[in-house]
Amino acid sequence: MSTIRYKNGLLHVEDVGIHSIAQEVRTPFYVFSSGQIQNNFLEVKNAVKSFNGKVFYAMKANSNQAILKLLYDLGAGFDVVSGGEYQRAKAVGCPGSKIVFSGVGKTQDEMKLALESGIRQFNVESFGELHLLNSVAERLGVVAPVAVRINPDVDAETHEKISTGKAENKFGIPLPRVEEFFRVASGLVNINLLGIDLHIGSQITSLQPYEKAFRKVNSFIKNKNMQITRLDLGGGLGVSYNPSEDKPPMVSELTELIARIFGNMGLEIEIEPGRYVVADAGILITSILYRKRGENRDFLVVDAAMNDLVRPAMYSSYHEIIPVCEPSNSELLPYDVVGPVCESSDTFAKKRHLPEFQPNDLMAFKTAGAYSTVMASEYNTRPMVSELLVRGEKWDFIRKSPTIDDIINRDIIPSW
Ligand code: LLP
Repeated sequence: MSTIRYKNGLLHVEDVGIHSIAQEVRTPFYVFSSGQIQNNFLEVKNAVKSFNGKVFYAMKANSNQAILKLLYDLGAGFDVVSGGEYQRAKAVGCPGSKIVFSGVGKTQDEMKLALESGIRQFNVESFGELHLLNSVAERLGVVAPVAVRINPDVDAETHEKISTGKAENKFGIPLPRVEEFFRVASGLVNINLLGIDLHIGSQITSLQPYEKAFRKVNSFIKNKNMQITRLDLGGGLGVSYNPSEDKPPMVSELTELIARIFGNMGLEIEIEPGRYVVADAGILITSILYRKRGENRDFLVVDAAMNDLVRPAMYSSYHEIIPVCEPSNSELLPYDVVGPVCESSDTFAKKRHLPEFQPNDLMAFKTAGAYSTVMASEYNTRPMVSELLVRGEKWDFIRKSPTIDDIINRDIIPSW
């Protein structure tokens, strides 16, 4: 059961009522449930035990230090995609041996940072990157541990902007060139090519694309007799944003599939879930500013905007919208829920059937724990909103909204 639910008619995160937080914290703000993050992570961690797998949380989904610390203490390693994320992992005490470095455009500085401070593996995505990594490692007098990210040309059947495993996508080495990659790597003294890596997309809601990609990799390893010890199967497991439509596979179904296809190959198996760990553990709380009658629809203008939660504007994504006070009757009205930013893409929902809302009522966007705060911006000079974490009856800020002065003072007006 979710730790975010109504109790006595009021929305709670664990044992904390959102209405009571809203008396102290200005809306909009994010609230995360540490209990839900813990449950999600432990579910994954336990499920991979059947093949002795390792979990590297893809921190791009939510990289607040408080959340990283919570996950690290539960045994997570981290998947990072920038020097900044690498340093975030280090800042919570994670050793390099529990960090994998993904990403299609690593810089020399990022390679140097990770080689000097420790890294479990670089997931390398191009021949150019392989050569550059070899030369950076040579200069430092070390050997870089590597997995090659392959592009299996499989459609993850997800939103096109978060699909990464098709031939047309920028990611990975096409399967037909992977043997050549191994040949080239074997001639590079400062590269130790240990394994194969794969990540076909995000918000995957069916096992079929996984199965297709895994079978391709399995046949490739067997047919070509690839000498590898590691296999990184990426992340991508979808969550239910819209309970009446999304029916993603369960973690255990995915791990059973992995065990079935790769279980007896003697490989060290890694996975990189991001969204699954945090998505349903976060909500964005906003207040209704205005109820506005349009020509043929009613608008609810709220104080959160696309700069706070960009997913609806960017991927037309669905977030369930619920009132903080449970409605007393079941009558629903169609509303367009929009933010104050000056463009029409600042729309959270169109003709959504919702209970009646009035100005000053509190509203929650659900399943907003992943790819929300990390993708927020200060567009329209709107400060990034505060982030709060709940544990039981306790809550605390895990990031405070900056003041407008903080924002303005970051700009530099040249003396000329
Ligand atoms: N590993 C790699 C190499 C990745 O690129 C990603 C996500 C993950 C793991 C984690 O995938 P997850 O388990 O979270 O699906 N901003 C988009 C999602 C972008 C995902 C990018 N890569 C959204 O809001 O839907």
